[in-house]
Amino acid sequence: MSGGVAGADRIGREAAGAAAPCSAKTPARDEFDRLSARGCGFLGTELAIMGGAMTWVSERSLVAAISDAGGFGVIASGAMSPELLDREIAATQALTSRPFGVNLITLHPQLFELIDVCIARRIGHVVLAGGIPSSAAVLRVRAGGARVICFAPALVLARKLVRSGADAIIIEGSEAGGHIGPVSTAVLVQEVLPHVGDVPVFVAGGIGRGETILAFLEMGAAGVQLGTRFVCAYESIAHPRFKRAFIRAAARDAVASVQLDARFPVIPVRALANPATERFRAVQRGVIDRFNSGELSQRDAQLEIEHFWAGALRRAVIDGDVEGGSLMAGQSVGLVTREQSTAEILDELVAQALAIIAARARRLAGDSARALPGASGSRDSGG
Ligand SMILES: Cc1cc2nc3c(=O)[nH]c(=O)nc-3n(C[C@H](O)[C@H](O)[C@H](O)COP(=O)(O)O)c2cc1C
Repeated sequence: MSGGVAGADRIGREAAGAAAPCSAKTPARDEFDRLSARGCGFLGTELAIMGGAMTWVSERSLVAAISDAGGFGVIASGAMSPELLDREIAATQALTSRPFGVNLITLHPQLFELIDVCIARRIGHVVLAGGIPSSAAVLRVRAGGARVICFAPALVLARKLVRSGADAIIIEGSEAGGHIGPVSTAVLVQEVLPHVGDVPVFVAGGIGRGETILAFLEMGAAGVQLGTRFVCAYESIAHPRFKRAFIRAAARDAVASVQLDARFPVIPVRALANPATERFRAVQRGVIDRFNSGELSQRDAQLEIEHFWAGALRRAVIDGDVEGGSLMAGQSVGLVTREQSTAEILDELVAQALAIIAARARRLAGDSARALPGASGSRDSGG
């Protein structure tokens, strides 16, 4: 980790309980590295922490910053054309020599061309998101020599994806920002981690502090993926108003989109509640009324509902329209309190994990000292 900021160094030293930055070799850091070894080996990084791809946010600047600071940045290709993705990868490679990945949306009409761009640019890891990928897509990535990482929303799908050739799995709980599944991170880790050992599993959703990272590593995760926590990095190009909304928000402000009628499905997305959230309910209500009165066909009604959020994330992230855009954010937004450098965020996460390891070691040392015959506080000491 670059860890160049004085503040972060201080946090690291305090947390490790020793006069050393958190990247220094201490027993706590050794233990953390041991727990992270599988994920680090898989990603080729110093830390088993992925920066989850965020459309419009995860571009060259943030991705390179995360990788340079020891994590694993991932470009969000969103709706990019193959030409645009090619340029974005080249620009990111110009900024960092460290490994980073590319996130592709499986529903993209040019998915296979996008995969070919990644292969031609020698991207080592491709994340296939936005649905269960076809085995043809998985095999195309592998045939090009890259590793495939897939999202699994349940154990049965994790097993199926591993059989189809996935090299690693991400399990993402409903606390996450952006498109979400129905199950919380706390339950998914219990469902999947004890049963999927043949490939590395990364945990995402609701992670904002290092203690939680440590807990998941100790449960058997290979690593973690965080998105929300990186939005307010200095290196993130998100509009200042978007960042300000994150800094002000509490966990409960990051709400899942509401579906009013089962006949008109709404893809669940977690975002900060804003006037657009309210307007979306009103639009759904109006569309359903017009459908019920025969004014709209089911198809047109569904399209009108789906159209509501088109371009809304870009309007919020890039243009700073925090009232009319989509403020996708996870519940860990409540833990985002200020703008920080990416290196400082990663240092802080590591320091929080190291503090727990160091405190546990001190407790164990105290316990064994007390258990020694004649030690003060032991039953034999007469004290
Ligand atoms: C603003 C925003 C945009 C996102 N866009 C994408 C995306 O394009 N593709 C994707 O796979 N995940 C996307 N995500 C999810 C992140 O990659 C990551 O998995 C998630 O943020 C982790 O949960 P957390 O927000 O609780 O840290 C997005 C998340 C946010 C907050």
